[in-house]
This record gives sequence, C-alpha cells and structure tokens, in this order.
Amino acid sequence: MRYTLSILTALLLLGCGDTPQKSSAEPESSPPIQETMTQKTVAPALVKHEKAVEEVSKAEEDVTQKAEEVQAVATAAVDGATLFQKCTSCHGQKAEKVALGKSEVIAGWDVSRLSSAMHGYKDGSYGGAMKALMQGQVKSLSEQEIEALSEYISSL
Ligand code: HEC
Repeated sequence: MRYTLSILTALLLLGCGDTPQKSSAEPESSPPIQETMTQKTVAPALVKHEKAVEEVSKAEEDVTQKAEEVQAVATAAVDGATLFQKCTSCHGQKAEKVALGKSEVIAGWDVSRLSSAMHGYKDGSYGGAMKALMQGQVKSLSEQEIEALSEYISSL
C-alpha cells in the first residue's frame, strides 16, 4: 500500500513536472495553436469582413438610389423652369401677368389647379374666349411636363 502511494505520488509529481515541460516545448506545438487561432480568430474575422463588405455594397446601392432620386427631382425642376420659358412672353417671368389682357393671373395657383386647367385646355373642357390659343400651348405637353410645369409655376 505504501509502495503504491509513493508510486502515485511519483506519478503525480511527474505529472506536475510535465506541465512546464510542455509549455517550454510550445514552439514545437505551434501548428495546432495556429490552427486554433485560425478557427477562433480568423474565421470570425472573415465573417465580420464579409458582413462589412456586404454592408458597404448595400450602402453603395443606397447611395446610388438616393442619387437617382435627387437626379429625378432636379430634372423635374429643370424641366419645369425650362418649359415655362415658352409661357413667359404672355404670363410673365413670375406668372404675374394677365396674359394678352385676358387670362387670370396664374401666380399663386396650386399644383392641382394649374394641372387641371392645362388638362382642360388640352381636352377642350376648360377655358374662356381664348382657350383655343392655350390649347395650342399645352396640347403637345406630356403628363410629366404638365406636372413639372404645375410644380414650377406653383413655386414662383
Ligand atoms: C401667346 C400667349 C400665351 C402663351 C405663350 C401661354 N399662354 Fe397661358 N394663357 C393665355 C391666355 C390668353 C389665357 C386665357 C385663355 C382663356 O381664354 O381661357 C391663358 C390661360 C392660361 C391658364 C389658365 C388661366 C385662366 O385664365 O384660367 C394657365 C394655367 C396657363 N395659361 C398656363 C400657360 C402655360 C403653362 C403656358 C406655357 C406652356 C402658357 N400658358 C402659355 C396666353 C398664353
């Protein structure tokens, strides 16, 4: 029994002595450590990286979309202002004139009033004595151009 115990103690001591030995041999066991690092550190980092790449490309998409929206708004504004140039000789730069001494002053009209007047001139359902003249002015305008014009005039 005593003998067994001392063997056990010896083994225990050996076992304890083993530990520092192992750690001193660490450089040799570096491949498995690297492997562990790959799994524990590099893999999540890769996942993070992929996520970041995904987020960046999503942000890029968002920016492109926003730019297109801004472009669309800008184009509409430019169109309205440009289109109105052919109206200013009669209605005035600020739509403040009584066109040919006959029309109402359209400055201050809201979008829907302007747009329905133009649609009305187009299909002949709106206007006074000189409605034929105004029909000639608006008949070639598209839906979008009427909208752009209405937006622009109402903003003057
Ligand atoms: C040659 C002159 C002339 C030009 C150019 C002209 N208009 Fe007119 N506009 C008139 C006259 C005149 C009237 C009144 C017509 C009537 O008897 O209904 C009028 C009426 C209108 C009205 C309704 C106001 C009302 O009296 O009920 C709107 C809106 C309008 N014009 C918008 C435009 C727009 C937009 C343009 C350019 C695309 C334009 N006009 C170009 C002469 C002009």
